[in-house]
Amino acid sequence: MLPNPYAPGELPRVLAGREQQQDRIRGYLSRIGTYGEMGGPLLVFQGPRGVGKTSLLREAQRDAEAHGFITAWVACRRNAPFLPDLVSRVGKAIETADILPRSEKGGWRLRLESIGLEFGLPSVVKVSAKAAAERSSAEAPPRGAQISALEDLLHETGTRVRDHGGAGLVVFIDELHAATRDDLAVLLNAMQNLAGRREENPFAVIGAGLPSTPGVLVNAATFGERTTFLTLPRLEPAAAAAAVAEPAAELGVDWTPAALHAVAAEAQGFPYLLQVLAHATWEVAQPSAAGEVLGIDQVHAGLPRADDQLTAMYAARWAAATDLEKQIMAVMAQAGSPTVTRAEIAEALGRPTQALGVPRDRLIDKGIIEPAGRGEVRFTMPGFDRYIRETLATGAAPDADQAPGRLGAGRRRRQLPPASDAGRDTPRR
Ligand SMILES: Nc1ncnc2c1ncn2[C@@H]1O[C@H](COP(=O)(O)OP(=O)(O)OP(=O)(O)O)[C@@H](O)[C@H]1O
Ligand SMILES: [Mg+2]
Repeated sequence: MLPNPYAPGELPRVLAGREQQQDRIRGYLSRIGTYGEMGGPLLVFQGPRGVGKTSLLREAQRDAEAHGFITAWVACRRNAPFLPDLVSRVGKAIETADILPRSEKGGWRLRLESIGLEFGLPSVVKVSAKAAAERSSAEAPPRGAQISALEDLLHETGTRVRDHGGAGLVVFIDELHAATRDDLAVLLNAMQNLAGRREENPFAVIGAGLPSTPGVLVNAATFGERTTFLTLPRLEPAAAAAAVAEPAAELGVDWTPAALHAVAAEAQGFPYLLQVLAHATWEVAQPSAAGEVLGIDQVHAGLPRADDQLTAMYAARWAAATDLEKQIMAVMAQAGSPTVTRAEIAEALGRPTQALGVPRDRLIDKGIIEPAGRGEVRFTMPGFDRYIRETLATGAAPDADQAPGRLGAGRRRRQLPPASDAGRDTPRR
């Protein structure tokens, strides 16, 4: 039996349709590689859950390492500082790469430890009694000291990497929308200061986050708006087909054009949905050897399985919402249009618009809905609105067994070409 090559919720085997973004990142990094100077301001990819931000960044990390960069990766979590993690990851990265000559290693480790102390990282070096007393008297680590410690870290790591034949340092920060404001302010200030001496600072910071990220950054420091924001779009039809076809092709298994078309139409360019649908089709078909072909029948047969997975995800999202959040989502789901204005929501709920600001922002924060132009919002993932309508219609979260599925419910026949369309359903070679 062949292994299932699809990866719902994990890194994809084939990153399809992101050439433009990858080129953009390479251009950004080539400045460091060629001139040894700072890549530019913070570069951030924003987009809803499941659109492929982490996957893109991980691929960029691999690519950067293949081009001689040392990299560090951190993911922000709500209410937890990310700088301590960043400092220790940068320290580990340079150690793992093993680029320092033995004579420098000891000194660098001490240096890292003293920088780490500013971020509350424990040290194996004995802190002098005086320094310890000073630290415990201060409630939080002083912001100014953290900024200059972070500057030192980024500057010294980047130049050390370069001194020893590497290209420079790249720091990746995922889930940037969840970063604490204090830590972001320190990062932005440090980068701003280092930009003044760009030719001495061979590093870059690349991040990703939900569509709320720009607001979070500007809120942390006014010049957060100097960040380069790039929106990560859904996949174009050709890329969506490649995302499904290529992992199978690597195992010698083909999809018929009709089957590919059906999956792509159902997923609407959403990478996560593509993976779920392709994974389910494969599970049902269980191809056992190269040369087998996945057709439309198997896509159909896989739908209930894909439905189950999506239903579980939507049910978890719905259950985690507050009453007011549910009311907002209910209005949106029943509006009959893809986008809804704040005023429409307020009117439907009989409340002033301002009263809905907080729950609305929380839904955006969680990546469930996203801003869509002036005062408008929409759901981020196709299918959730239908789930909500069904949930409301049955008075409870629909059971996957009896309720019409997310991917079915009369849509199935309309969207998927019928199985008898056998003429077109021939292998793609
Ligand atoms: N370009 C792509 N080609 C094929 N599959 C992809 C692509 N990008 C992402 N995927 C798949 O889509 C799913 C979601 O990807 P990923 O976790 O990178 O999204 P994300 O934007 O980081 O989501 P979240 O906001 O929830 O962290 C994964 O199953 C991944 O394998
Ligand atoms: Mg992610």
